[in-house]
Amino acid sequence: MKIVAGNSNLPLARAIAGYLEMPLTDASIRRFADEEVFVEIHENVRGEDVFVVQSTGYPSNDNLMELLICIDALRRASAKRITAVMPYFGYARQDRKPGPRTPISAKLVANLITTAGADRVLAVDLHAGQIQGFFDIPTDNLYGAPVMAADILSQGDSSNVMVVSPDVGGVVRARALAKRLSNAPLAIVDKRRDKPGVSEVMNIIGDVRGKDCILIDDIIDSGGTLCNAAQALIDGGAASVRAYLTHGVLSGKAVERVNASVLKELVITDSIQPTAETLASDRIRILSIAPLVGEAIHRIAEESSVSSLFD
Ligand code: R5P
Repeated sequence: MKIVAGNSNLPLARAIAGYLEMPLTDASIRRFADEEVFVEIHENVRGEDVFVVQSTGYPSNDNLMELLICIDALRRASAKRITAVMPYFGYARQDRKPGPRTPISAKLVANLITTAGADRVLAVDLHAGQIQGFFDIPTDNLYGAPVMAADILSQGDSSNVMVVSPDVGGVVRARALAKRLSNAPLAIVDKRRDKPGVSEVMNIIGDVRGKDCILIDDIIDSGGTLCNAAQALIDGGAASVRAYLTHGVLSGKAVERVNASVLKELVITDSIQPTAETLASDRIRILSIAPLVGEAIHRIAEESSVSSLFD
């Protein structure tokens, strides 16, 4: 078995290799003068079970191209099985046609990964579980909820906690976390725009008064969804609001927005390599998913159950 790291998140790849007590495979991923990606694997991988760790976050297209070219290099080097390990699967939000003449880019990305030569995919908190069905190769979707639940429980008394989904689409994810917190109560922030051009109204489904709310979502990108939901909860009488999100995309002024928000704390994972600005924020804390991904890789290599990680 071998672990190959793309350039998108080397600290996470190293931590996964550390969990598995093995070195990263010696490889170089370079750019030609015109930014074309060039990959060279410096070790024999013939007949090996190879895991390529690459998140396809910013710059999404470059990181995706690195992943595809790594897979191609490994396939041509006769690796026995290639697993694309994507702690963050970019393009996942484009999983349906939002209107006529628009693409389903998540499906296109799935086709590209398969065509490049991947035999399996391992992802974490896919934006929509059904993206697994965009692949005709085995696809494991790991959940961040156990890591988050353990962290919440380690913070002390959780008897006043209420789990909140920042939108209707995230209810299943919120319910899964609530279940791990001794069936904590659940609330939903429902965004409605009654007429086009009229600003959105945030309705809260559930009584959040006096509660220590925990917002859970898969992605924070601009931070708009999260910070607006947090404000709505405080306006609705919540005692405090913290947030747990798997993928800290945090583009543009997102970190600034979080720092200026009513959020007591934002907890993200290291599925995407945090920027210096993220690391400098005293409002943002990072949990590592390296043990979770490392254990899943170990189980795939050993042909043992991955789903039992979440029992
Ligand atoms: C949307 O369905 C996702 O789950 C996130 O809520 C969304 O991507 C967050 O984006 P932003 O931070 O830009 O509001």
